[in-house]
Parts: sequence; C-alpha cells; structure tokens
Amino acid sequence: MILVTGATGNLGSAAVGQLLARTDASQIAVLVRDRDKAAGLAQQGVSVRVGDYDDRESLAGALEGVDRVLLVASNQFQRREAQHRNVLDAVKAAGVELLGFTSRSLTDPENSRNVMLHDYFQTEAQIRQSGLPFVIFRNALYLDTLPFFLGGPKVFEEGIRLPTGQGKVAFALRREMGEAAANAMLDHTGSDRTYVLAAPHAYTFTDVAQALSDISGQTVTYESVTDEEFVARAVKVGVPEQTARHLVDSLHDVRDNQLDETSTDLERLLGHAPASLRDGLAELFSVPNPA
Ligand SMILES: NC(=O)c1ccc[n+]([C@@H]2O[C@H](COP(=O)([O-])OP(=O)(O)OC[C@H]3O[C@@H](n4cnc5c(N)ncnc54)[C@H](OP(=O)(O)O)[C@@H]3O)[C@@H](O)[C@H]2O)c1
Repeated sequence: MILVTGATGNLGSAAVGQLLARTDASQIAVLVRDRDKAAGLAQQGVSVRVGDYDDRESLAGALEGVDRVLLVASNQFQRREAQHRNVLDAVKAAGVELLGFTSRSLTDPENSRNVMLHDYFQTEAQIRQSGLPFVIFRNALYLDTLPFFLGGPKVFEEGIRLPTGQGKVAFALRREMGEAAANAMLDHTGSDRTYVLAAPHAYTFTDVAQALSDISGQTVTYESVTDEEFVARAVKVGVPEQTARHLVDSLHDVRDNQLDETSTDLERLLGHAPASLRDGLAELFSVPNPA
C-alpha cells in the first residue's frame, strides 16, 4: 500500500489522482489533518489516516500496513525541517520499504538567496543518512506560481516587471509533477534515485511574455526592474514590505539561474512530454480574448 501525505493539497492530490488511475483504491492511503477534506477519497475506497507532521504519535498510527510513503514537503516554513524529521522517524520505525520526498531543484543549493529552501536539503541529507530506501523528487518552480508573481490577469495590460534579468527557469506544471511522482512511487525497483522534475527547456521571462502574447493576442512586455521598484509596487498593492523583500530573494534565485536545471526525468516518468510553456500558461491564465 502507498501512502501519500499532503493529499488535501495541490501536489498530493495530483499524485493520488494518478495512483487512482493506475491502481486499485484499496492499495492507496492518505495522511490528512482533517478527515472531512478527504471525504471524496474515502468514498472512492482510499484509506484515510488522520495525522499531523507535528504529532509523532499520530504518524506512527497512520502508517499501519503501509509499504511506501510519498512525503509531500510541508508548507509550514518555520517548522518543516522538524516536521519532516518526525515523518522520517515514523517511517523508519514502521519498517516502510520506500520513502519518496518532494524536494526542490536548485543548481547550487548552498548559495541560494532563498533561505526558505535550505530545509529541503537538510531533509534530503537526513533521508540519505537514514539507510531507508528512497526516491527524491527535486521539483522545479511550479509554473502555477506565475499567476501570483505576475499579478493575475493584470499582466495582459501591465506586462511583466520583475527583478529577474535574463535568468532561466525550467518551469513545470504542479499537476504533472504529482503524476510523475506517483508513477515513480508505483514503479520503483532497485537502488535509490534522485529525479529532477523539471521541463527539458528553461525559459526567461522574455519567453514567458512572448508565450502570454501568443495565447492572448495582446502584446505582453517584460522589463527587468530594480529590487526597489519591485518592492514599492508590491507594497502599493497591499503586500507587506517584509514579504515583498522575501519575494525579491526568491526572484534573485531566478536571476542567478538557480532554477535553470533542465531534465528529461519528468518526461520519462510521465511517459509523454510535459506541457509546453505556452500550453501550461493557457491552462493557468484565463485569457481575456484568446488568440
Ligand atoms: N516547487 C515549487 O514551486 C513549490 C512552490 C510552493 C510550495 N512548494 C512545496 O511543495 C509542497 C506541496 O505543494 P502544494 O502546492 O501541494 O502545497 P499545498 O497545496 O499548500 O498543500 C500542502 C499540504 O500539506 C499539508 N500539511 C501542511 N501542514 C501539515 C502538517 N503539519 N501535517 C500534515 N499535513 C500538513 C496540507 O494539509 P491541510 O489541507 O490540512 O492544510 C496540504 O495537504 C508545499 O508544501 C511546499 O513545501 C513547492
């Protein structure tokens, strides 16, 4: 039986959807904090286990009869290194045969400006040291983050203004990463693996602007702006200044080509090419007047 954590979230639910498409529901379990959120999965025959990364006892109880665990990284940035350690300890104690973990893709993790990414690599190191058979998924930046970074449909009027230079990103759709991780968890045999779930091409924001122009028929421009201009604009639309400054750090990873790690792993695990930049953006943006 495969258990997926974070199954009420975006990535985890995509992974569970793919497991359901490929295997019997009786072979799937999910770890959730709120049973009600998983009512639809329970109806389909998935075993719903209630547990919390912060509650070691709940994790031990949730792993009964489970052979493989896909740990979807926590979204609680302040605490997640300890939370992941709790899951790792529970998985070890339960004698689980394979642990999957959704980490992040960076070309030079030690020098990332985004401090919120460092704990993924601490968890990776702990998994490698644990002696447990593992599969690590180093996920690219979700293409799905772009509506947020670009201010939603306003981008079609105002263009893209980010402090990202000509940095490249091997964006991929979150749902495709979930599907690929599920396939890997089902099909894994042999030794430990680290996959990079990213597009086979990396794109600049000039490319993103061009793709948005193509799908909308409107000219979308891109200008790389200073950090101060980005912060001032964000604060003007209600983003707290501290958050805006953190966003600058994560965008500097783009500028510094930290996210320029391409791979064919995603394509191989999916069994088909991942969505192109243009198709992915068309899926994520409601285009005012499609071209
Ligand atoms: N690659 C990227 O670009 C990127 C971007 C953003 C985030 N991420 C990482 O990828 C992960 C998955 O992304 P996502 O979009 O699926 O995130 P998401 O939609 O926010 O889902 C997070 C899941 O984690 C669960 N969770 C949170 N705290 C928990 C706890 N203490 N115990 C048990 N479960 C807990 C949530 O459960 P509830 O439903 O109960 O809240 C939810 O199911 C994120 O958590 C984050 O680490 C990656």
